[in-house]
Amino acid sequence: MSDILHAEVMDNASEETKRQFEYIEKAKGYVADLAKELGRTPKACVVTFGCQMNARDSEKLIGILSKIGYEITESEEADFVIYNTCTVRDNADQRVFGRLGFVGGIKKKNPHMKIALCGCMMQEQSAIEKIQKSYRHVDLIFGTHNIFKFAELICTAFESDRMIIDIWKDTDKIVEDLPIVRKYPFKSGINIMFGCNNFCTYCIVPYVRGRERSRSPRDIIREIEYLANDGVKEIMLLGQNVNSYGRGLPEDEQISFAELLTEVCKVDGIKRVRFMTSHPKDLSDDLIKVIAENEKVARHIHLPLQSGSDEILKKMNRHYTKESYLNLVEKIRKTIPDVSLTTDIIVGFPGETDGDVDETIDVVRKAKFDNAFTFIYSKRTGTPAASWEQVPEEVSKPNFDRLLKVVQETAKEQALRFEGQTHRVLVEEINEQDEKLVTGRMSGNTLVHFPGDKSLIGSFVDVRLDECHGFYYTGTMV
Ligand code: SAH
Ligand code: SF4
Ligand code: F3S
Repeated sequence: MSDILHAEVMDNASEETKRQFEYIEKAKGYVADLAKELGRTPKACVVTFGCQMNARDSEKLIGILSKIGYEITESEEADFVIYNTCTVRDNADQRVFGRLGFVGGIKKKNPHMKIALCGCMMQEQSAIEKIQKSYRHVDLIFGTHNIFKFAELICTAFESDRMIIDIWKDTDKIVEDLPIVRKYPFKSGINIMFGCNNFCTYCIVPYVRGRERSRSPRDIIREIEYLANDGVKEIMLLGQNVNSYGRGLPEDEQISFAELLTEVCKVDGIKRVRFMTSHPKDLSDDLIKVIAENEKVARHIHLPLQSGSDEILKKMNRHYTKESYLNLVEKIRKTIPDVSLTTDIIVGFPGETDGDVDETIDVVRKAKFDNAFTFIYSKRTGTPAASWEQVPEEVSKPNFDRLLKVVQETAKEQALRFEGQTHRVLVEEINEQDEKLVTGRMSGNTLVHFPGDKSLIGSFVDVRLDECHGFYYTGTMV
């Protein structure tokens, strides 16, 4: 658990950062008053949906909440509950509405309780309208562009009994150096860019996260140096398409993702570097070379395929073909033989036929993915594909099932290739099912369970991979 605020950072903090620190001070007063009233420290709970970006944003929310005096809890039986939402597929939306109904019941018993909603779903007007109409017990709503104002918004919520809604359409503002509390002391995500400019025709992310903005390389390296000093050993560089990092930076800061990765690896104390996500259209030979030559870079590339059919890829606006994707995979596997390749695939995109899914399955067989996240296409209002003729479930569901079968077979075969070898793992936690075991993560991202105790958490150890169980191994420390 850590707090990135320190004197040196404060010296060169921007005006906005300073303003937010004034609100943090003010909010501390409000929380202290509440503590007096309750006769105990007030509790706050942040529930996170969605991707690594949201997970990182939640660490920023928890940073502010801790700073102003809340005790952080995992239970929604709290004095302040914040839902950090995702809207990439409809089921993500439905889960949030489900939680809101549930927490409404808790609030009935504790009228002083405050409920906030933020994140991607809040960038959609229709979601806001539904909440205003049917979920009146929500106190505060904000979006993905003004999360840095959280302390200010909390102050407003303490000062008013009305539902506060503050959504920004977009911003080019990046506010640095606010408090962050990490979930893991030994590993951390780092935003290197925000937003997305790719507009894949099925995807809502560019609409809810806004235009692509890269963070200054100096700020990124400074944050990573701070984290390394604070005990972080593994970092994950985060962006919707990290391969286009650097576009739009001022001339004196121009740097490619491959160059940034090289610089990041030079930071003392950082032992392993991951990144997420790579768009196949922008993955450069330079990047493959940097990964191959730099042991610190994890042997894992997540390379979303989405579809193996050229016609569907074109309609999706993905800017690559089945052939160019497979050539890229071949190049990667040749240059980095021990790499794990994972992917995302969508089934049921408008116009998709059984023949198109055959093409996708063919790519899965040829690319030999170590793992693949498969999704049924979900119609997102506002995206181009939403207005095209949709594929009925009777067609997409059987296609999804036969794709999943091949994905599982391939993943199992791939996992077997490391059995009997010894690999370096970062120990992350005590095994959930058996407390005599610990769980570690290999460079390729696969999990390994082996005998050990909590003193190992946060350290790198060598483990022999005794037995492969499909998606994970059991092993022995050597
Ligand atoms: N920027 C990342 C993806 C972020 S969203 C990239 O381009 O790789 C994560 C995954 O959700 C996507 O890769 C895609 O497979 C899936 N996804 C996005 N929109 C979807 C939709 N409308 N329906 C189903 N799956 C979707
Ligand atoms: Fe969505 Fe495509 Fe951007 Fe990924 S690259 S976030 S799938 S629009
Ligand atoms: Fe979801 Fe937003 Fe991430 S829509 S997948 S939380 S960028």
